[in-house]
Amino acid sequence: MWHLASDTLAASDIDALADWLRTHPRLTQGEQVRAFERQWSSWLGSAESVMVSNGSTANFALLACTARRIGKRHPRVGVAAVTWSTNVTPALLMGWPVTVFDVDPRTLGVDAEQVCSAMRNGDLDILFVTHLLGLNALSPAIVETAAATGVALVEDCCEAHGARYGARRVGTVGLGSTFSFYFGHHMSTIEGGMICTDDPAFADDLRLMRAHGLARESHDFDALAAQHPEIDRRFLFVMPGLNFRSTELNAFLGKRQLAQLDERIGVRNRNMSTFLDRVRNSPVAGAIRTDYATEGMSSFALPLVSRDAATHRRVREIVDQLGVESRPVVAGNLAHQPMLAGYDVTVRPTPVADHVHTCGLYVGNGHHVGEPMVHQLVDGLVAGLAT
Ligand SMILES: Cc1ncc(COP(=O)(O)O)c(C=O)c1O
Repeated sequence: MWHLASDTLAASDIDALADWLRTHPRLTQGEQVRAFERQWSSWLGSAESVMVSNGSTANFALLACTARRIGKRHPRVGVAAVTWSTNVTPALLMGWPVTVFDVDPRTLGVDAEQVCSAMRNGDLDILFVTHLLGLNALSPAIVETAAATGVALVEDCCEAHGARYGARRVGTVGLGSTFSFYFGHHMSTIEGGMICTDDPAFADDLRLMRAHGLARESHDFDALAAQHPEIDRRFLFVMPGLNFRSTELNAFLGKRQLAQLDERIGVRNRNMSTFLDRVRNSPVAGAIRTDYATEGMSSFALPLVSRDAATHRRVREIVDQLGVESRPVVAGNLAHQPMLAGYDVTVRPTPVADHVHTCGLYVGNGHHVGEPMVHQLVDGLVAGLAT
């Protein structure tokens, strides 16, 4: 069986973790988390990183702190129609107006024309871009229009560790960005997430948001305490915060996983390139989309977006018969998911997302997928679609 994902944690990682645990180290957030944050920042190219419990809490904290930064209690947030639920959920739960935009078929990221026109019309305060399936979703038009119109650009890189926008890694372009280290992502810390930014004051807000809003989490603790001499500085709450902390165990694993990340990204990208080249040069070239903007990618999965619904049904049967596990492209068009019902959501026309919703699926990519498997998949598709 070719699974959607396999664990990037090896027996050697678990053995190392067990050995370390036998030294009875501190287990709640501490030096391991700080060390992993430093290593992650240096790998990504961001000034600051804040480790949290997972990618969803990373998204929540990033959005909540972005709203504080721009001084809006109810900012209007733009998201792509094809993304993961928790890219959108924080804004819904905080009662903010959300606009859902169509996606570009080549990047599966937000449609530049639609979103730039909304930014120019003054319809958005925050644009939360998702780099879906490891494809860079940013373009100069999006980045420059956000800057010119004062829209806060933030990036969900939970599926795109190491992808690039030009020379920069995604996650270093907007005000802040998020990563997930859940099972099946480019690297895993069992559960885990990271929020990255170049702005030290913003990073400080993120650290407070992660830990109850307590001033002692701040790098400016003394200054904050001095502003509130009437309150015991050890329990001074300077902003509303929750508890999104990681344990030391996750960070211990994160440091080991990071050492293998570039090699794992290489495997994923080789598989994706082989897959697209083979399909492009096969008799099924017109039936399955291959024209993705792969420059700078850090492939998360192999997309199978078919020409039409009948081909899609057949493709699904073929992958099932081949023993290849598949699933919708992330969550399909979120605009069709019941989770949005009753919330303040505006949906722009989403023909591309609708097509991905009805004609798309993906199969797994990762170190568990070898190039011979990719060839067998394409051979199977060619044979199956010919009949
Ligand atoms: C694009 C995207 N954003 C956010 C998340 C949430 O990450 P987590 O599963 O760590 O909560 C995911 C998870 O798969 C994702 O794919």
